[in-house]
Amino acid sequence: MKVNNAEFVISAVSPSQYPEDGLPEIALAGRSNVGKSSLINKMINRKNLARTSSKPGKTQTLNYYKINEDLFFVDLPGYGYAQVSKSERERWGKFIEQYLTQREELKLILQLVDIRHAPSKDDQSMYEWLKHLGLPVCVVATKADKISRSQWQKHVKLVKQTLGFHSADRFVLFSSETGMGKDELWDIILEKMAW
Ligand code: GTP
Ligand code: MG
Repeated sequence: MKVNNAEFVISAVSPSQYPEDGLPEIALAGRSNVGKSSLINKMINRKNLARTSSKPGKTQTLNYYKINEDLFFVDLPGYGYAQVSKSERERWGKFIEQYLTQREELKLILQLVDIRHAPSKDDQSMYEWLKHLGLPVCVVATKADKISRSQWQKHVKLVKQTLGFHSADRFVLFSSETGMGKDELWDIILEKMAW
């Protein structure tokens, strides 16, 4: 995919703010700090269009990024951030649920997990929930550069086992540092967009 133009469009806090272009949307889910914003930046060759932070919980809205006139990346708020209050978490849960269940433009959810660790309870519930809703998911194991190549397969196996990964889903090993998995992920996205 050749990205000629990428721009931040809106931080949406309610459905009335979602863009009305009708373009396909690819959403990114994953716990805070897993690398959602970094992945977007890598996919579009930009250093910091999607704001990244070493401080978790930065993204608290649905952040829309328009890529060419072709699609939107939708950066979802990271889950599992302990310092957010319970009522706030519930509010965001409802908001995301509404988006996932009602947004027709949504074509694919990239669920990010950190390759270094077994997926958390939150990761497991998220994946189960997405499967329950019947949504197309691609699991992306991020930060592959943080472990040695010889350890990749072992970790991939652990991630898949812990998630209860469905073999019909796609799985990509990714690094925002090295660009590993980028072309493969674009292929998967383009395939789903054509649906
Ligand atoms: P929230 O917006 O809080 O939900 O976090 P996020 O999922 O958007 O994470 P973000 O992209 O901001 O990345 C968090 C931290 O991890 C940053 O310090 C990134 O530089 C680092 N990071 C993200 N992806 C990678 C990766 O593939 N490799 C390495 N080494 N670091 C990464
Ligand atoms: Mg982010």
